[in-house]
Amino acid sequence: MTIIQSHGHQLPEDGKKASTGAYERPVKAFMAGEEKKVRTTVLSTGETSSDKKSDATLRPESLSEYIGQSRLKTMLTMSISAARTRNEPLDHVLLYGPPGLGKTTLARVIANEMSARIHMTSGPSLERPRDIVGLVHQLEQGDVLFIDEIHRLNKVAEELLYPAIEDFVIDLTSGKGHATRTMRLPLPRFTLVGATTKAGRLSKALRDRFGFACRLEFYDLSELSLIVARTAALLSVTVDEGAVKAIASRARGTPRIANRLVRLVRDFGQFQGQNVVDEAFAIQALESYQVDAFGLDNTDRRFLEILIQHYDGGPVGIDTIAVTLGEDNETLEDVYEPFLIQAGFIQRTPRGRVATVRAYNHLGLTPTQSQQLKMDFTEVDKSSE
Ligand SMILES: Nc1ncnc2c1ncn2[C@@H]1O[C@H](COP(=O)(O)OP(=O)(O)O)[C@@H](O)[C@H]1O
Ligand SMILES: [Mg+2]
Repeated sequence: MTIIQSHGHQLPEDGKKASTGAYERPVKAFMAGEEKKVRTTVLSTGETSSDKKSDATLRPESLSEYIGQSRLKTMLTMSISAARTRNEPLDHVLLYGPPGLGKTTLARVIANEMSARIHMTSGPSLERPRDIVGLVHQLEQGDVLFIDEIHRLNKVAEELLYPAIEDFVIDLTSGKGHATRTMRLPLPRFTLVGATTKAGRLSKALRDRFGFACRLEFYDLSELSLIVARTAALLSVTVDEGAVKAIASRARGTPRIANRLVRLVRDFGQFQGQNVVDEAFAIQALESYQVDAFGLDNTDRRFLEILIQHYDGGPVGIDTIAVTLGEDNETLEDVYEPFLIQAGFIQRTPRGRVATVRAYNHLGLTPTQSQQLKMDFTEVDKSSE
């Protein structure tokens, strides 16, 4: 597959070999108790530089290698095969869901399956009209145009893109005031793949222009176990079944974290001179980073503590929790909350966040009668995506 970055430089196709000693500052952290910073990155869904380095070896290249998301894969397999039979590009695809679940990976898989080139860019880097014009200018028939963080496209960029997406034309303007002229130029037929963690922020007009909108789900334990085993094999780490399960169950339903935990365990093993990782060793390694049995870290636990102990279990607004926790609310909403909700530790209600009985249990607390009543009468807000 050919990968073209937004500024038009051709990259060799993932030609770089993945690094092996990729985990950030592992040994130092084990030795010097320099934990806080490292710990907060261990379970973060955001992409770190070591994630990027190991990506080249770990990213699945085809739909058959792509684990989980079976509903979505079935749909894509059918659509791709239909498009190929008609010898047409695939319809535009929108991929949405929390970070680290495989949106970028899937965009590349789609390009691969269509034997297409992929141009990779992101919403914030298409700031000026000429960024877009320059980009679409490079498109050839059948190419995939991947726009990450598509919810961050500005209005001007969005409006310039509409005719490009809908009718494969672009309107170029020149001159100012009365002398303004618009020229409509045809574009080759291409496939736009948009990715976003915030589908709700997309304008309806933009959303409606996608042929498919696909939501990526958190991965279950068996899917994560497959991912952990695959990653361990690719990184030449020998893990037994118990270790695979211990790592998978702490990965917060997220492949990016699963891969990071495998690297962490490998590095810990190398540091300790342990060649074969078993369950006890994996748990010891992960606990040294304060990753608990559910994959919660300090910030998650503080989130739950604040909710229960400062605000009587809720409901309380995310802004208030963010201030008390000293985090910005965007990070809480994007990184921490989705998993806490999915794993059943908190619920989102129209009046704010409410702790569940699971959260009380996890912290070793028993809800009071009034807290119990609140939980029993929680009205869950399913509207916000
Ligand atoms: N379905 C999957 N099967 C195997 N590995 C996956 C899968 N989805 C994601 N990954 C791994 O997780 C990492 C993060 O995925 P990525 O596509 O960057 O997530 P996103 O773009 O949604 O934030 C990738 O490096 C890839 O190796
Ligand atoms: Mg991505």
